[in-house]
Amino acid sequence: MYRQIKHSEYSKEILEQLQRGAFLTVKSGDKVNTMTIGWGALSVIWGKPVFTVLVRKSRYTYEIIEESHEFTVSLPIKGQLKEALGFCGSKSGRNTDKFKECNLTLKDGQKVNVPVIDECDIQIECKIVYKQDMDENCLDADIKSRAYAKGDYHTIYYGEIVSIYIKE
Ligand SMILES: Cc1cc2nc3c(=O)[nH]c(=O)nc-3n(C[C@H](O)[C@H](O)[C@H](O)COP(=O)(O)O)c2cc1C
Repeated sequence: MYRQIKHSEYSKEILEQLQRGAFLTVKSGDKVNTMTIGWGALSVIWGKPVFTVLVRKSRYTYEIIEESHEFTVSLPIKGQLKEALGFCGSKSGRNTDKFKECNLTLKDGQKVNVPVIDECDIQIECKIVYKQDMDENCLDADIKSRAYAKGDYHTIYYGEIVSIYIKE
């Protein structure tokens, strides 16, 4: 059973799990993929609840999200799926079916045409309302040398949260 929640109600759990890893799932046509993310933002912008994700251009996920206008974020907040988070954060969906390899079950989204990962506890469904390529000229020098020594800058996607729910 899933229960609709407010994003502020579980902000602590969401942000703590994000630092340990969450699944960003994308879909375009018959291509579906997930990758582990560790950076993101839970926020209120334009009077809406917004979840922001950062995707480097080298990712297969980038190719798919660029053809779409939606994404989902699935969070396992009870300490499960550590191995799957490691696998999905190191293998590319270009040459691996990560869902099959990790025994992850896809469940249809409620409000978006992108599935969620049913083994997770909190599901966030988002519609992209803004995106922006990072501009290296605007970036702090220390972050630039630590996170972008090889370039491969992120594109930042701002997703209006159109549905958010917890498994009970
Ligand atoms: C804990 C963790 C957090 C990560 N966070 C991000 C992230 O926020 N953005 C990103 O572009 N890649 C991130 N990665 C790397 C991608 O998950 C990884 O490159 C993945 O294999 C890409 O898969 P894809 O080619 O199927 O898209 C993270 C990896 C790990 C292990």
